Amino acid sequence: YRTAAVIPAAGRGVRLGPGAPKALRALGGTPMLIHAVRAMAASRAVSLVVVVAPPDGAPEVKNLLDEHALPERTDYLVVSGGDTRQESVRLGLDALPEDVSVVLVHDAARPLVPVDTVDAVIEAVRDGAPAVVPALPLADTVKEVEPGAPGEPEPVLGTPVRARLRAVQTPQGFDRDTLVRAHGAVAVDGEGATDDAGMVEQLGAPVVVVPGHEEAFKVTRPLDLVLAEAVLARRRA
Ligand code: C5P
Repeated sequence: YRTAAVIPAAGRGVRLGPGAPKALRALGGTPMLIHAVRAMAASRAVSLVVVVAPPDGAPEVKNLLDEHALPERTDYLVVSGGDTRQESVRLGLDALPEDVSVVLVHDAARPLVPVDTVDAVIEAVRDGAPAVVPALPLADTVKEVEPGAPGEPEPVLGTPVRARLRAVQTPQGFDRDTLVRAHGAVAVDGEGATDDAGMVEQLGAPVVVVPGHEEAFKVTRPLDLVLAEAVLARRRA
C-alpha cells in the first residue's frame, strides 16, 4: 500500500490578482505550496510527495523544498507541469515509482487541509474504494444557467436539490491503476478536467464521498488569502 501524493502547483493563479504563481505566494510567511506539502507529509501513510511545478519554475520549487524541512520518512520529487491541471496531474503520475499503489491528488491551493481529512481519504481507498473524494454540503443554493455575454442577465435552466449537492475538495484518493487508466482514457478538452474523480466517473468506476473539512477550502480569490491567514493565526495562537 505505498502511498504517494501528487500536488499540482503549476497554475498561474490569475484570479488571485497579479504576482508570483499562486502556489509560491506566502501564507504566514511560508509559500502556500510548502504548507500543502507539509499537510500531505503530516500523514504517516504518505511516503512520497510529487510536486508538479510551473513549467519554468521546477528549479525554484526544488530549492524551496530543500530549504523547508519535511519529516524524515517523506521523499519528494519535482516535475514540470503543463498547460492545464489535467496535464499537470498526468505528468505527476508519470513520475511515480512502480511500488506506489495508492495516489492522492492534492491542490497546492488547499494549503490548510487537516491531517485527519488526509488520513480518512487514504483509509477509504485502502478499504477498497477505487476513488474517494472529500466534500462538504453547500451553504448556497446552486442554479444552472445558460451562460450569456458578460454583464447580461442569464436565463436559469434549473435548481438542483441542495441537500443532494456536495462541494468537492482535495486530497482526492485513488487506486493508482484506476487513476492512470482515467488519465489515459479522457482527452484534454479546453481547460481540461478540473477534478480527477470526475475522470474516474467517466470510466464508469465507482467514486465515493467522505466528509471534507472547512479548512480544506481552496485559496482562489484575494478574500481567501485573508481567511487563510486568519486560520493560520488561530492555529498558532
Ligand atoms: O486554477 P485552480 O485553482 O483550479 O487550480 C487548482 C490546482 O491545479 C492549483 O494547485 C494549480 O496550481 C494547479 N494547476 C496546475 N497546472 C495548471 C493549472 C493549475 O498544476 N496548468
